[in-house]
Amino acid sequence: MSLVTIKNLWKMYGDNVVLEKLSLTIEEGEFCTLVGPSGCGKTTFLKMLLGQETPTRGTFLLDGEPFPQEPSIERGIVFQRYSVFEHLSVLGNVMLAIELHSSPFLGRLFGKKRKEAKETAMKMLVSVGLGEAAEKYPSELSGGMQQRLSIAQSLVNKPKILLLDEPFGALDPGIRADMHALILDLWKKNNLTVVMVTHDLHESFYLGTRLLVFDKVRHDPHAPNAYGARITYDIPVGDTRKSVLHEINKSIT
Ligand SMILES: Nc1ncnc2c1ncn2[C@@H]1O[C@H](COP(=O)(O)OP(=O)(O)OP(=O)(O)O)[C@@H](O)[C@H]1O
Ligand SMILES: [Mg+2]
Repeated sequence: MSLVTIKNLWKMYGDNVVLEKLSLTIEEGEFCTLVGPSGCGKTTFLKMLLGQETPTRGTFLLDGEPFPQEPSIERGIVFQRYSVFEHLSVLGNVMLAIELHSSPFLGRLFGKKRKEAKETAMKMLVSVGLGEAAEKYPSELSGGMQQRLSIAQSLVNKPKILLLDEPFGALDPGIRADMHALILDLWKKNNLTVVMVTHDLHESFYLGTRLLVFDKVRHDPHAPNAYGARITYDIPVGDTRKSVLHEINKSIT
């Protein structure tokens, strides 16, 4: 059974048709990258995967079951703007992610459970290369380090699907390359399924196993909201293509 099954899915806001007639399945372990023009509904699509938005029409299944109505542990998300709390240390931020998951009402753990949460959070920080920065505060971190922190927050509760919305767009090229290496490493080690929005086609070929292009195929100049975007290309990105791209990349940088 596919991890995600989408059939004839429509999403509208009032009379603004954002997405129309989407049908696709996503298998466990895939790394899907998603590109398309600004405003075509990429973030909306991720929000539906996250459970923050509901489809207007159509079938949307996770493991063959209707999607839970609320964001759940099946999914983690890293948005480009960091969701970290400034008054908590790096370690505190990752512990809070565990605490909110294990104790959603209190948001706190005590005694042995708290000690375990601390150990788990610390391991996660080490795996994203933030072991040395555990006691720092978010404002003391570089952009790349903040991004690592939000990835750590998302991954610490072992989500099945990691959703990334233009996670590396704001980073310098060198730091972006480090983040690419990190995300590929975490993806392989944790058997994750990743859905990542990017504006960078190069990035999508480099990271993904599959490229999804969202675009409008129908336009009415008198009613710009009448038609939504569809998936216009769904391209598998094999290792051969990746290694060619890697060579080209090396020769131009
Ligand atoms: N909560 C909302 N209420 C009403 N309309 C919305 C809402 N969220 C998004 N939209 C509309 O849905 C459309 C798609 O927005 P979305 O943010 O998904 O685009 P996007 O592809 O992520 O764009 P970008 O590349 O600029 O991030 C836009 O027309 C936007 O105005
Ligand atoms: Mg967006």
